[in-house]
Amino acid sequence: MNGFIQHGSITTLEHVLCVAWITFRICRFLKRDPKEAVRGAVLHDLYLYDWHDPIGKGDGKHHRFHGFTHPGMACRNATRLFSLTEREKDIIKKHMWPLTPIPPKYTEGYIVSLADKISSLQETLHISTEAQRHARLLRHELMEREKLRKDSEGRGEEEEEKNEP
Ligand SMILES: [Fe+2]
Ligand SMILES: [Fe+2]
Repeated sequence: MNGFIQHGSITTLEHVLCVAWITFRICRFLKRDPKEAVRGAVLHDLYLYDWHDPIGKGDGKHHRFHGFTHPGMACRNATRLFSLTEREKDIIKKHMWPLTPIPPKYTEGYIVSLADKISSLQETLHISTEAQRHARLLRHELMEREKLRKDSEGRGEEEEEKNEP
């Protein structure tokens, strides 16, 4: 997700972290448990292509209908990787409402849909916000952890090779 642009210069990873942060703040304001809403927000755009690409180089498909098709794709990808609750699945599938006609079933779905629109507007208008600063820090932290994980895997393989007879 970090390799694809969402809006302006913001990657999809930064975008979902931003949406998660805004979602968290709205849930806290409404005194609601943020767990499922934040998980839904983090996973709501789990597709791996640049939707600006008119010919869809990634998978050879057109991205003209991206707005309608990506919620379902994100939900399938998320379900393959994680165990999701019905509420989390609904949040992901309905986050483009009202562009997609079926409204969210739960309040959390409306919260994530609203957070997504707020974040997208800020990204498009290049408005720097607290959510973006948090998202940037979190993305940096995730990248550092990923680098450390890869380094330690590499060291593990080297050790294995050394120990081979
Ligand atoms: Fe989306
Ligand atoms: Fe989004």
